Amino acid sequence: MNIVFSEQAEELAAKARQIADEYVRPQAAKYDKAQEYNHDAARAVAEAGLFRTFVPKEYGGHGAGVLALARVTEELAKADSGFGVAFAVNALGSFPMILGGTEEQKKEWLPQVASGERMVAFCLSEKYAGSDAQGLSVTAVADGDDYIINGEKKWTTNGGVADIYSVFCVTDPTSKSRRISAFIVEKGTPGFEIKKIEDKMGIRCVPVVETHFHNVRVPKRNLIGERAGLGFKHAMSTLDYARPGVAAQAVGAAQGALDLAIVYANRRKQFGAPISSHQMVQKMLADMAMQTEASRWLVYRAAAGIDAAPGDASNSKLAAMAKCMATDTAMHVATDAVQIFGGYGFMEDYPIAKFFRDAKILQIYEGTNQVQRMVISRHLIRAAANLDHLDPYIPVETQLTYAEPGQAVVNHNT
Ligand code: CAA
Repeated sequence: MNIVFSEQAEELAAKARQIADEYVRPQAAKYDKAQEYNHDAARAVAEAGLFRTFVPKEYGGHGAGVLALARVTEELAKADSGFGVAFAVNALGSFPMILGGTEEQKKEWLPQVASGERMVAFCLSEKYAGSDAQGLSVTAVADGDDYIINGEKKWTTNGGVADIYSVFCVTDPTSKSRRISAFIVEKGTPGFEIKKIEDKMGIRCVPVVETHFHNVRVPKRNLIGERAGLGFKHAMSTLDYARPGVAAQAVGAAQGALDLAIVYANRRKQFGAPISSHQMVQKMLADMAMQTEASRWLVYRAAAGIDAAPGDASNSKLAAMAKCMATDTAMHVATDAVQIFGGYGFMEDYPIAKFFRDAKILQIYEGTNQVQRMVISRHLIRAAANLDHLDPYIPVETQLTYAEPGQAVVNHNT
C-alpha cells in the first residue's frame, strides 16, 4: 500500500499549521478557561478553505480525502486538541450526507459546509445508548410530507455552534436491521433546543451539549438517503471515515505534549544538569516519540486505505486500529509529559496540564477503545478463513521429520 501525500494535502496542512500558530495556540488557555468557542480561529479556517478539505469537488469542496483531513486535523490539534475536534466534527456531521445523502441533499447542504458558512454536528449518542448505537430511543414518525422527531440526544459536540445536525432516530421500532434513519435538522427548527451545556474535564473550548426534540417537524426531503431504515449503516460508515480524524487529533495532541516535554527536559536542571541528560527521562522521551510516530503512520495508513479503496472491508478494521492506538498513545504521552514536568505539570499554571485533561476523551468518543477492540477482533475472527492453510496443531516433531522446502507438512494427528 502506497501512502501518497498529495501536494494539495500538504498545502492544506501547512495552512492549518499557520492558523494553529497564529490563532489557536496563543488563545488555547483563554478559551479553555472561559469554555468558549474560538470563533476567530474558525473564521481563519473557513477563509483558508480548510472546511473544503473533506467535501467532494462537485459540491464546492477540495475533495482532498481522508488523509488530507487527517493531516489538517493533526496540525490544529497539536496546538489545541479541543480546536482539533471543533474542526473535525464538521466532517463527522457531514459524512452521513456525503456517503449516504441524495444528490439534492448534497447540492443543498454541502456547499455551505465547504465554505464554512454553516457548521455541522452529529447526534447519535443518547442517555441510554452510547456504545450500543442501535439502542436509540429518539423517534421520528412520518406525518404527511414530514417526520416528527421526539426525544433527547446527549454529548453533541459543536452543539449550539453548529447550524446543521445529522440526527439518528428510530423510524421502525419493529425492525431489527432497518430500525434507524438519519435526518438533517436545522438550528432554529421549532421544538429543537440545546439544553444542558456540559462542564467538561477537557476540550473545554468546544461545546458538548444535550439536544432536545419536542415535536420537531422536518420535511421528508431531510431524511438522509433514498429511503428510511439506512441510518445505522450510515452511522457505521460515517464512523469508519471519521475515526482516522479522531486518531489524527490524538497524534497532534501527543506531538504537542511531547514537544513541550522535550523543551522542558532540556531547560529544567536537577542534580546540576538538565533532566534530559538523565537516562530515565531519556527513556520516557524515546518511548513517547516511538509511540507517537508509530501511531501517526497507522493513522496515515488507515486514511490512505479509505481514499484508495472506499468500500474495502478492511477500512473499518484499520480505522478502529488507528483510533484505538493513537488515542491510547495520546493518553500515555500526555501522562508522561506531566510526569516529566513534575509538580509544575500538575498545576494549571502551565499548558501541559491541559494536554492531559484533553487526552482522556479521545479514548472515549467516536467509539470507546473497548468498542474499537471489539470491531478489530470481529474482523480478525471473520477473516480467519484466509488462514486455513495454517495448522496450529501440527507437532514440531512432525515438521522436523517430514518438512521439505515447498512441501506441505501433513499432520498425522488430525
Ligand atoms: N459499515 C457499514 N455497515 C456496518 C458497519 C460498517 N462499518 N458495521 C456494521 N454494519 C452493519 C452490519 O453489516 C449489520 O448490517 P445487517 O443488519 O444488514 O446485517 C448492521 O450494521 C449491524 O451490525 P452489528 O451487528 O455489527 O452491530 P452491533 O449492534 O453489534 O454494533 C458496534 C456494532 C461496532 C458496537 C457499533 O454499535 C458501534 O460502533 N458503537 C459505537 C458507537 C460510537 O462510536 N458512538 C460514538 C458517537 S459519535 C461521537 O462520539 C461524536 C463526538 O462527540 C465527537
